[in-house]
Amino acid sequence: MCGIVGYLGHREAYPIVIEGLKRLEYRGYDSAGIALFDGENLKVSKTKGKVADLEALSEKEITKSGNIGIGHTRWATHGVPNDVNSHPHVSNSGELVIIHNGIIENYESLKQELISRGYVFHSDTDTEVLVNLIEDVKKQENIKLGKAVQIALNQVIGAYAIAVFDKTKPEEIVIARLGSPLAVGIGENEFFIASDASPFLEYTKNAIYLEDEEMAIIRFHKPIKVRKIKDDSLVAPYIQELQLNLEQIEKGGYEHFMLKEIHEQPKAITDTYRGRLLRNEAIIKMAGIEDNMKKFLNANRIIIVACGTSWHAGLVAEYIFEDLARIPVEVEYASEFRYRNPVITENDILIAISQSGETADTLAAIKLAKSKGAFVFGVCNVVGSSIARETHAGAYTHAGPEIGVASTKAFTTQITVLTLIALRLSRAKGTISSSDFRTHLLELEMIPKKVEKALESDSHIKMIADIYKDAPNCLYLGRGYNFPVALEGALKLKEISYIHAEGYPAAEMKHGPIALIDENMPIIVIATKKGHYEKVVSNIQEIKSRKGKIIGIVTEGDVDVRKLADHIIEVPDTLESLSPLLTTIPLQLLSYHIAVLLGKNVDQPRNLAKSVTVE
Ligand code: M6R
Repeated sequence: MCGIVGYLGHREAYPIVIEGLKRLEYRGYDSAGIALFDGENLKVSKTKGKVADLEALSEKEITKSGNIGIGHTRWATHGVPNDVNSHPHVSNSGELVIIHNGIIENYESLKQELISRGYVFHSDTDTEVLVNLIEDVKKQENIKLGKAVQIALNQVIGAYAIAVFDKTKPEEIVIARLGSPLAVGIGENEFFIASDASPFLEYTKNAIYLEDEEMAIIRFHKPIKVRKIKDDSLVAPYIQELQLNLEQIEKGGYEHFMLKEIHEQPKAITDTYRGRLLRNEAIIKMAGIEDNMKKFLNANRIIIVACGTSWHAGLVAEYIFEDLARIPVEVEYASEFRYRNPVITENDILIAISQSGETADTLAAIKLAKSKGAFVFGVCNVVGSSIARETHAGAYTHAGPEIGVASTKAFTTQITVLTLIALRLSRAKGTISSSDFRTHLLELEMIPKKVEKALESDSHIKMIADIYKDAPNCLYLGRGYNFPVALEGALKLKEISYIHAEGYPAAEMKHGPIALIDENMPIIVIATKKGHYEKVVSNIQEIKSRKGKIIGIVTEGDVDVRKLADHIIEVPDTLESLSPLLTTIPLQLLSYHIAVLLGKNVDQPRNLAKSVTVE
């Protein structure tokens, strides 16, 4: 949560920081701020609202010149979103200025200590405590900023990515990371600092990603110095070449990132299986699995941990792994798993699923499983992310950057990777016949074309969205492989349109939710041909008798549901195990259109952030 950007070099810092903040707005967008040193003065401008509000304010308030600057876009943790709590925060002397992503857990005791020494606080934030702690250490010990940051951070409990500079020495920025990502772009006599590499892609392709418990001192005309925060030892920085390009992080003619990302799914799924699914040779090749095949074959069970949409992908995977590979699977919310003293043995495999690779709860669950000796496998989208680095092995989804806060292509590509893994393991275990295996490969290869076909229903779905956009509640039902899709459909609607929605296993409806049904309740039922079709048709009959409004997601050519439903949306036929990759498409489009028709901010829904790096 929160995006941070910094610049030190020969260019004007202002446009780099502002444009960088716009690219990081997916990380938090309840307030924004910038600090620049113009050669004489430190100028700080900050406001509740979005980066566009900051830009408008800066027009009036800030001298936009200066070669050193830091900026922040916030997702509030300590203190409500308002102007005062916005970052950057300045120390009591007015000399130090800081931006921070994360939470300082022991901020209250540190604050009391500082108050007893005469410090005054203006905001409710933990960050203001941190900057004054650094100032206090610096003054007490009469030391340089880098050393003061190091000593202060050794007193801190919590998570952080910070950038701080001293207006009396405006040729250096000190940065540090523990639990929140931080990248440094290395240009010709210039440095870019950011929560991810997107703010500096047009300036340099060379980047360093700080590891946890590392800090760096960035100085004009000097090579970057990276140190361990704990013991001060020097670390040789690893400069990597970025593969990301600008086009991937722009809207490309679509009105919203979410819509772009929905439409990117045929390509994203193809990219996910490219080089892994070799149909002519009838094999699946995945290095992370091949290298650890013994572990997978000897595993007692697989535990999947994830949050939100990634957790839903984990639920789909539970069906696939158990069905095809006959391996027992448990799927856990990472946030619950980490705090409930779970029984984990060395024969368990933990699969952590995360688009961002930065989700704090998922990271903590990984660390817990590792400490108990389990083998941990990651399924991430963001290359080089914390989870990708923290796991023993893994497989990237290769979905490309997902910027819309509501996950779309992350979900379908996660399912694709997990399907490949399940198929590979079932082949190795002999739990799938060679002809079934070939059928799966063939069908999986046809999915991108079928997703394209499903996307053709867009205008029909928009029409349905217009009819139901004012419904206060919505129910999503599915069975088997499509039960998690019902959960995902409900989550999509909730998060971007703020309509209350619930996903349920279709048969469970009669144990409670049926009481909600009346002529005003829209119920989206996934009723594709393969699976438990007849049973779901019976559930639809039950809804019909109670006058609920039925929107059926059905297989092309369906006859039975068409007779009962108020609306149907067709998807192409496929194997039951692959059907979530298709049934999820109309649900994404339905949520999207409802949210747009209601005038909601689709890409940046209220209260949310793309990457949840706090627990
Ligand atoms: O980056 P992750 O996949 O770990 O994120 C997990 C959730 O925060 C995420 O899926 C969230 O639920 C999305 N907003 C859903 O659209």
